[in-house]
Order: sequence, then C-alpha cells, then structure tokens
Amino acid sequence: MTPDTAKARINDLSRQVEHHNRRYYLDAEPEIPDRAYDELHRELVDLEKAFPQFLSAHSPTQRVGSSPLEGFETVTHLQLMMSLDNTYSEEEISTFYNRLLKNLEIKKLPVIIEPKIDGVAVSVVYRDGVLERAATRGDGRSGDDITQNIRTIESLPLRLPPDAPQNFEVRGEVYMPHEGFATMNARRVNDGEPPFANPRNATAGTLKQLDPQAAANRPLDLIFHGVGWLGDGMTLESQNAFYELLDQAGLRKGDYIWKVDDLDGVLGAIRELDKKRHDLPYETDGAVMKVNDRALQESLGATSKAPRWAIAFKYQAEQAETRVLSIEIQVGRTGALTPVANLEPVHVSGTTVSRATLHNEGEVKRKDVREGDVVIIEKAGEIIPAVVEVKYDQRKGTEKPFEMPTTCPTCDTAVERDPEQVAVLCPNPKCPDKVKRKLRHYAARGAMDIQGLGSASVDQLVEAQLATHISDLYHLDASKLGGLERMGSKSIKNLLSGVEVSKQQPAWRMLFGLGIRHVGSTSSQILLDHFGSMEAIMKASFEDLEAVDDVGAIVARSLQDFFQAPDSAEELERLRAVGLPFAPNKAAEDASARPTSDSLEGTTCVITGTLSQPRDYFAQLIKQHGGKVTGSVSAKTSFLLAGEKAGSKMTKAEKLGVSVLNEEDFLAKLAD
Ligand code: IVH
Repeated sequence: MTPDTAKARINDLSRQVEHHNRRYYLDAEPEIPDRAYDELHRELVDLEKAFPQFLSAHSPTQRVGSSPLEGFETVTHLQLMMSLDNTYSEEEISTFYNRLLKNLEIKKLPVIIEPKIDGVAVSVVYRDGVLERAATRGDGRSGDDITQNIRTIESLPLRLPPDAPQNFEVRGEVYMPHEGFATMNARRVNDGEPPFANPRNATAGTLKQLDPQAAANRPLDLIFHGVGWLGDGMTLESQNAFYELLDQAGLRKGDYIWKVDDLDGVLGAIRELDKKRHDLPYETDGAVMKVNDRALQESLGATSKAPRWAIAFKYQAEQAETRVLSIEIQVGRTGALTPVANLEPVHVSGTTVSRATLHNEGEVKRKDVREGDVVIIEKAGEIIPAVVEVKYDQRKGTEKPFEMPTTCPTCDTAVERDPEQVAVLCPNPKCPDKVKRKLRHYAARGAMDIQGLGSASVDQLVEAQLATHISDLYHLDASKLGGLERMGSKSIKNLLSGVEVSKQQPAWRMLFGLGIRHVGSTSSQILLDHFGSMEAIMKASFEDLEAVDDVGAIVARSLQDFFQAPDSAEELERLRAVGLPFAPNKAAEDASARPTSDSLEGTTCVITGTLSQPRDYFAQLIKQHGGKVTGSVSAKTSFLLAGEKAGSKMTKAEKLGVSVLNEEDFLAKLAD
C-alpha cells in the first residue's frame, strides 16, 4: 500500500469508527454487528502501526494515553462555572417560577425540566473539531485539567463530525452507571481494596487518577447539560437549541427533557421525572428547571454562585431501616461535641451507610435515640445521613438512654454549654481533635491546598505536639519533623516546601482556611474582591461587612466575633509575621494603576514558572491590555509568559511552536 492510499484509508476508517461509536454509545442503535466494528477498528490499528506518520492523537484508537501524569495542571475556565440553588418543595419551586414571571413581566415562560445527575461537573472544550481539554469545576474559576481521563469515556467523541460546529465549550456531569459501580466495587472487595461509598465518590476518585489506564478500567460516562463558551461567532437562542448542538456534535444529553410553558407543566414534569428517574442507569437527586430563552437568561443574570434563570428541585431523600450499634462523640473544628451513631451497614440512595449524625445532644434527647435501637435513616445526595425516626415499639428494654459526657472524650477537659446554640463545647484550644480538624481544614484542597500535608501528617504533627495553632506550621523545620515515624526525608521536604509555597496563596484561601464559622470559600472570595485585603476586612465595621452583596449579618457577626477574640487576634498577628497575605497586594495595586491599552487585543496567553511578581499581577496586566489568560497551552495560544523553573507548559509550547516570552520580552511587548 502506498503512503497516500494508507493515509486516505486511515482517515476513512477513523470516520467510520467514529460514526459507529456514535450509533452505539449515543443512539444505542448499532448499524453493524460488534464483529464488523471490531474488524474496522483492528484494520485501523494495524494501518496506524504500519504508517505511524499518519497516527493522529485524535484517532479513535488513542483513547488511553500511555504515560501517567505527575500531577494535574490547573486551568482557568473560559467562563465561570456556576452552581445551582436548591428548592425542596413544590411550593418553593412555584414561588421561584412565579417570581420569574413577575420579574420578566410576562404571563407564560417556557422552561426546560431535566434530570439532575449526581455526578462530577466537568467542562469540555472542542477546538477545530477535536477534543482539546476537559477540566473539573474546581472553585468555579479554575479547575484541574483532566483531559487524559475524560478521553477514556467511550461515548465522548475525540473528533466531531465535520458538519457540526467545531469550536465550543460545553458543561456536563461525569458519572459512574449503577451497574458499572456495583461490578467495580465487587472487584475491589475481591482484590482486598476498600469499596467506594457511592458512585459519585467513585467518579471523583477515578477522575483524580494520574494513570489514564486506571481511568480507562473504570466505567465512566458523561452527559452534557449546559453551554459555556461558543466560538466562530456562534449564538444559541435557547437551551433547546443547545440540545440540537449536542445532537449535531454527537454529544450525549439527559435521557428525559421536558419543555413546558407554565407552572402546571413544571410540576407535572417534576412529578413524572420522579417516577421515571429510578429506572435511569445513573444516580439522580433532583430535577433542574432552566429558562429556555437565552436572551431571557441573560437578562435575569446570576448571583455570586448560581444563575437566577435556573434552579434545582431536590427530591425527597431515600430512607432505610437499620440498628444503632453505638453512639460516639466527635469533636469538631470549633470544639462542638457531636454525637454520631454507628449503624449496622445499610444500603440507601446508592450508598452503604454505616454512620449517621445525631446533630447534638438536644436532638438525641428529643428523639430519645439509644444504643441498640432500630431506626429509620435518611440520606439525600451530599447530605450526611441522619436518623429521622426511632422504632420505639421494637425496643427490648436493654437499650440505655444517651448521656452527653461531661468531659471531652479526647482531652478530658470539662465541657462547656453554649446556652443559645444548644452546643456542648470542648473549651480547650489545644484539644488534639479540635486542632487536627482545624489544621486539616486549613491545609485542605479547597482552602490553602498545602501539598505534603494530608490528614495523616496533620494527625502526626498534632500527636507529637508540634502544632497547636495554624501558625505553628510555619515554624516547622527538618529537625523537628525528623523524629516522626513514617516521615522520611522526602515527605519532610514536601511538607516544608508545601507550607512555604502556601504563603503565596491568594488571601481568600487563607481567610477560608481560618475556619471562621459561616465563612465559606465563596464568601471569602467575595469579601476579598470587595475589600481588597485581609487587613481591610479586619478593619471593616459590622455595617461595612453586612452591606457587601451576598454576605449578610450572620457572616458579618461571625467575622467580627472572630477578629475580636483575643486568641484569634494573637494568632492573626503570628500569621502576618510569617508572611501570609494580609496587606493589600502591592503588585496587584501597581498593576491596576497601570494604563490600559489594546496592545494584546485578540491574544490568548498562558503564564507559567516563577516570575518577579505573583502570576495574578501579570494576568491583570494582560487583561488590561486586551488579552486573555488561559491555563493550558494549545496551538491557539499566542504566547507563553515563562518565568524560572517553567515545566511541562514550556515543553508543550516548544512542541507546538508557541512563542515563549520571558518577563523582559513580555514587558517590552506591552510597551509596543
Ligand atoms: S445546569 C450554571 N443541569 O448540579 C449552572 N446542572 O448542584 C447550571 N448538575 O453545578 C447547571 N445535572 O454540575 C445543570 N441537568 C443539569 C444538571 C446539573 C447535574 C450539576 C451541575 C451543577 C450542580 C449544582
């Protein structure tokens, strides 16, 4: 065979295999028997082997990458990935719908109802018709590049049909089907590995695998539900038009989609879906209602975390009957003692449940939950399983009433009662459980994301009394850590460098990491966006704090209580002293004071390596000069701004022929 014929045949075979993949995975209507498909696939593999010069990364034979990654790159989303607000009753959803009618001053409003899939949100970008990138939601602004793992999902085309739009970003939900989940868990148990608690955890765990082969061995699938960025000047008039785009592109959409024009239609669809959803091959925890018209969506806008044109309706949680084996006390980050029931394991909502929260002493007393009781537990999606009912008539008489301990089960300090909040608290600031939870939260991924400081290391530090405050982390050194078991020189190095690097984290991560009650990651971001620095937040009055959009009195009060407590004031001072970001970011201020221009109009830039200022500084400069910043290098990247120790992005840029600028070149380019 001549190279030319081989090239044409490879192209033809790829298109055929892609077509049959669509017929099989998407339409569930295969046109040819499996054997015939296998033959086409085999011929393609053989030809690609014989003519490796024609092997494309987008060939349907190339789903599983060959080499494990060292870590996931962070990529900035082309558009913010938002979440949804929830409703739990028909009344709430009716209020929401009627408010939309009122705000839009219309009588009828066509909306879409579709299943809410209990999976992991992803963004998928196609450029020039090929799958360019897939990323997790992360904090909504940026997430992990999980392209390698997403490519292993067979229903997802690596290359789009030529007549479909070729440049766009869509959002969807990755999930593990019930059946695949059960098989996989059975295999894990068989292999002596711990089973996953539920399909969503299994999905999240799989997406975090660095080895694409591991991901390929697990049965993931993907359904799309929303649009992100649209290229080539493409517009979509409605959510319905988005489904047409999915159809053209050969991407999967939800199995049931209703378009209804009024409230009766909405409630009808939600009820119908509740009947049907249990037959779907994946876990659903609700229905999503979306305004169909995209122009109306736009005019409704969004809050800081969710669109105002869509809402989730959560179905009633599933219940199951089981027995309380024992009641145990957990000490939380704030010192609150929480009774937790250890249960005879029971299956509910696709999960095996063996623990349920009893919330607090009052709850246990009110329900009179006792060790040995038969109880009804309830579980809904994310929510921790809870005991909702006790079967008193099944008591044998041997069950003992619950008594809250008078001393902390961890440190033996006499507990205190907070009369208003029904909470029983361990007042000891050095209580090891409390400290462990506080430090774990601070180091966690969503907060300071300290590499090398996982829960096990935190526990060790606390047990060895090397840390009782967050600030202690910044005074660790190799000699202190050297005495710890299972802590080799490599782990020590990782931990110390992770702690050091964390000083460069944006201030909102630190604020969130402090674990102040009611101050979540979204409020932390909003607060820092608003006040500009941690110092300014600490100085703000209650009124100033409360006046910030989406913050409110509860958060404002909690912040003030925290800042005014003598213990935290001292700790904040220590954190400031070790170099954490309290002062306004001088670099960012300088950057925003610079003049703007359009010298970078139309360029897409990526920043990597260590530069003289935080990356945010340069990102801001690029934006002020009309450019766009993305997280990963592709053929579309205009240039890579690279500092010292630039790694894989540099290699990729060089491979793709993307120009690489150092800081000096970059500043010169700005001045042009
Ligand atoms: S629409 C702007 N539709 O649920 C956000 N989301 O709890 C629009 N989800 O972050 C999201 N199924 O990841 C939408 N049919 C569906 C969904 C869905 C699951 C996820 C999504 C979202 C989360 C919010």
